[in-house]
Amino acid sequence: MLKERIAGLLGQRQPGHSLPRDFYVDDDIFRADMQAVFETDWIFACSTVEIPRPGDYLTLKVGDNPIVVLRNRDGEIAAFHNSCRHRGSMICQKERGRANRLVCPYHQWVYELDGSLINARQMPDDFDKTAHSLAPVHVEVICGMVYICLADEPPSLARFRAGVTPYIAPHMPDRTKLAFTSTIVEEANWKLVIENNRECYHCAGNHPELLVTLVEFALPDDPLVKAQFQGLMERSATRWDGLGLPHKPAEGGNEFRCIRLPFNENCLSFTLDGQPACNKLLADFTEPDLGSVRMFRVPNNWNHFLSDHILQFRVLPLSANRTEVRTTWLVHEDAVEGVDYDLQRLTEVWLATNDEDRVLAENNHRGILSRAYRPGPYAPSEFMLSNFSEWYAGKMAYFTGGPQARLAAE
Ligand code: FES
Ligand SMILES: [Fe+2]
Repeated sequence: MLKERIAGLLGQRQPGHSLPRDFYVDDDIFRADMQAVFETDWIFACSTVEIPRPGDYLTLKVGDNPIVVLRNRDGEIAAFHNSCRHRGSMICQKERGRANRLVCPYHQWVYELDGSLINARQMPDDFDKTAHSLAPVHVEVICGMVYICLADEPPSLARFRAGVTPYIAPHMPDRTKLAFTSTIVEEANWKLVIENNRECYHCAGNHPELLVTLVEFALPDDPLVKAQFQGLMERSATRWDGLGLPHKPAEGGNEFRCIRLPFNENCLSFTLDGQPACNKLLADFTEPDLGSVRMFRVPNNWNHFLSDHILQFRVLPLSANRTEVRTTWLVHEDAVEGVDYDLQRLTEVWLATNDEDRVLAENNHRGILSRAYRPGPYAPSEFMLSNFSEWYAGKMAYFTGGPQARLAAE
């Protein structure tokens, strides 16, 4: 029944328009989103440098699924369903922590960092511990970014890996450390959070801090690109070509975007004066004017890689009208707080921007609840919303198994 209803709503969808209301507000469709998207696709979880030592772990929830991502004794990143094989209790409770072994707090079953059950007290002698390992979750690490997939057979990340690595690897994310993390909850559907991120039509009216440094219509394929920006882009491109840093848009289709773009004239970083937030530049950079590599990947991740720090954003839906947005700031591993960087200066632009975006997404959600809501047309500068809604519609069509399913799967 639900699949038929979704197929009907997909049939009503007008390309180039926002989605029919139920896709944003309906609880059943939210559950379908979790199955069709979040339990089948690769989900950005964290950065490897957030769990630098064996035994370090980080937890998150993908829909109803609690997951633990950890670094095992071999130094590799692994992920497991955070659900005990005895009677299902969540094992790791904290958002981040460190454990020599994973011990379930309920009856103290003990798991190795590779997920194997090594102690189950009071169980009979013939109890087969080997049949009760933690359920593994697929993991791929790309330039320090940890992606997890709950599907039995995950889709390929090969194109994404090959596409983004040349842009990101020079920033050496493995040689960074976590400077700060912020988690906020937005009272809005996850798709509104993503849509809000995919356009800067709203920037001029809402983001005074961000627009100190961000070029508003900076995308080369944006119809409103300005001659002034073209000059800036050409000068930057010549410099980046000389440094061997790629900048032209990667071929990511609707799956991902990756591009290096300049900041406003004389601006080098996301700060209120445009000067670097961290004096110790990433990698072995000596040139601070590297603009930013902006990378987005459906369904839940966008990042900025600058000369002096890295920003990573993770979106996790909580319910039809609640979405968690977690932001992490990474700086050079040798940078010292209070000496090389000031935390307020490093974080203030995006803390403010995130909060402004939260208000926009929440207002958007509330307005869509109106009985007068009708899907409205995207502006030309909102072309990335078209990409996103086409991708989403494809996922949902595949989920419903309808006539568009085969096409969407190709
Ligand atoms: S539920 Fe984990 S030990 Fe019982
Ligand atoms: Fe915004």
